[in-house]
Amino acid sequence: MSNDNQSTYLQENRRYWNSVADWWAPRGEAAWQRREPVWGIWGVPESEVQLLPTSMQGLNAVELGCGTGYVGAWMARRGAVVTGIDLSERQLETARRLEADHGLGVTFVHGNAEATPFADASFDFAISEYGAALWCDPYLWLREASRILKPDGRLVFWTQHPFAYVTAPQDGSLSTERLERPYFGLRMMDWTAAAEDPGGMEFTLPLSGWFEALTAAGFVVERLLEPQAPATGPDEAFFVSRRWAQAYPSELAFVAHKPG
Ligand SMILES: C[S@@+](CC[C@H](N)C(=O)[O-])C[C@H]1O[C@@H](n2cnc3c(N)ncnc32)[C@H](O)[C@@H]1O
Repeated sequence: MSNDNQSTYLQENRRYWNSVADWWAPRGEAAWQRREPVWGIWGVPESEVQLLPTSMQGLNAVELGCGTGYVGAWMARRGAVVTGIDLSERQLETARRLEADHGLGVTFVHGNAEATPFADASFDFAISEYGAALWCDPYLWLREASRILKPDGRLVFWTQHPFAYVTAPQDGSLSTERLERPYFGLRMMDWTAAAEDPGGMEFTLPLSGWFEALTAAGFVVERLLEPQAPATGPDEAFFVSRRWAQAYPSELAFVAHKPG
């Protein structure tokens, strides 16, 4: 991957993810071993949301911002031929080590999910769980996902809900019940000066913005999910408390279709 002309957020996100890759490795190891996929910060079971086709036999699938690659592993176990792309060399080291351990045949590529090396119409299925969906500019990565999907292809992504950003203090602490910043105009969140876990620049949009960006990229939205935190479980997860996320939406997922 060329380093030329990379935007500030690409450089920062590559640095950040290389620096935290060791912390994420044990989570990746555990997730590769799971037979039943679970999604997001609350571990929503696949049986509740049905984001993956039960059989992916014969499908070419791509994971955009694959990290340690466990979503790719889940798709490969369902029969898909899987490629994962990620900006962080260190995250890919973990992904390749776990692929060597499990032997599922997942291919990992180093690159930017906003401008991939893949040919037009290469894939039947594209997915991102907190990968491109959080760390790439929506107006760039959605257009790229549409380009590399075949007609009739499907896109699934899961990420942080814009409401959780509206209530997120700038110091990086848990979301509050106060409005900390405007909803309209949400796009990039710069966490490099945060007191807690400093580093990284994330992206989100207001819900209407997600619909607009998906439509502009040529997708038709099939489903929007706003999963609620479970009634029992850990008291907090990453950026929110469970109590908060029982009352307000911490995450969202979209399923979209590229018309044939
Ligand atoms: C939270 S991980 C997502 C993977 C996995 N689902 C998980 O939750 O651990 C975020 C990943 O996005 C990757 N990433 C950030 N910016 C990216 C970009 N422009 N292109 C591809 N991957 C990117 C990071 O390197 C990191 O591995």
